[in-house]
Amino acid sequence: MNQKIIITEDQDLAVELSRAIEELNPKGIFVLCDETTRKMCFSRIQTIPEIQKAPVHTIGAGDSHKNLDTLSSVWQFLCENGATRHSVLINLGGGMVTDLGGFAASTFKRGMRYINIPTTLLGAVDAAVGGKTGINFNGLKNEIGVINPASHVIIDTLFFGTLDIYNKLSGYAEILKHGLIFSKEEWTKVLQFDVERFDLIELRQILRDSINVKQQIVKKDPFEKNIRKALNFGHTIGHAIESLSHEKNDPVLHGYAVAWGLVAELYLSHALLGFSRECVSQAKAYIQETYGKPKFISCKDYDRLFELMRHDKKNMSCDQISFTLLSDFGQVQTDQFVDQKLLFEAIEY
Ligand code: GLY
Repeated sequence: MNQKIIITEDQDLAVELSRAIEELNPKGIFVLCDETTRKMCFSRIQTIPEIQKAPVHTIGAGDSHKNLDTLSSVWQFLCENGATRHSVLINLGGGMVTDLGGFAASTFKRGMRYINIPTTLLGAVDAAVGGKTGINFNGLKNEIGVINPASHVIIDTLFFGTLDIYNKLSGYAEILKHGLIFSKEEWTKVLQFDVERFDLIELRQILRDSINVKQQIVKKDPFEKNIRKALNFGHTIGHAIESLSHEKNDPVLHGYAVAWGLVAELYLSHALLGFSRECVSQAKAYIQETYGKPKFISCKDYDRLFELMRHDKKNMSCDQISFTLLSDFGQVQTDQFVDQKLLFEAIEY
């Protein structure tokens, strides 16, 4: 998978974007924002002469807009403004914009190139990188989509300065996951970052290493046939927790659910594959202190969580819930099956 990841140094987002445009030499440039990034972020790229001339399409912000109607509005915008398969679409936003914009570009006239400029930490460390694109459909998240990478992902940590602490921590959960699936050294390093101060300069190096973990995995297995499943660590239980929180009208951010999912799946990793008990306790203590506890879950919800996991799209059938677990830091075991009793113990933990 050919994808250039650029983490900008001091305020040179416009320079890097100009360079990427020059490399692609497109016939027509188009910009996609949501209402928030149009107001808060667009001015950072508007200084580029090519962007000043570019048609801009603004969509509603938030996951509820990640649907067929919004997608159709992007195709319509591209058609009306004369985009061709030699044009380029620039997606400026969080995971919702880069997923939907990436899908719109990948399917327009059978595929035009696109550049992602993630404006959230979660987007930068996960959604914008690795080529997964798509929309929600029929009440299911990311049900329709393709895997097709952006030609360039340009990351400017200055954007993350405007995020509240919850959204910063939400993104950081994916960095924790990358630490666990890569090595003990990487895990130790990510634990040392001061998440209360959240220094954006210091974050650059952590981000560089963390995205590198994802990129190495995606390069080996772009279509998630085997090792890319490592990136799902913490997500089987995490997604169920996230869905349950929405059902209870007490929604939690994705990264919080993933952080709690990591703890539960580390418990399973210890029980089934001998992952160090001490390290599981250390991770639990860190995550509990940083993310708190999912207070909206009681033992009455375990059956519902189990049901949600049975319908996870990563399973081959509803009879067996498929987990990615770790026998050690960086030692990934895919397609692990867990019985209900042990699963409930892990959630309890
Ligand atoms: N978000 C996990 C992946 O890109 O595979």
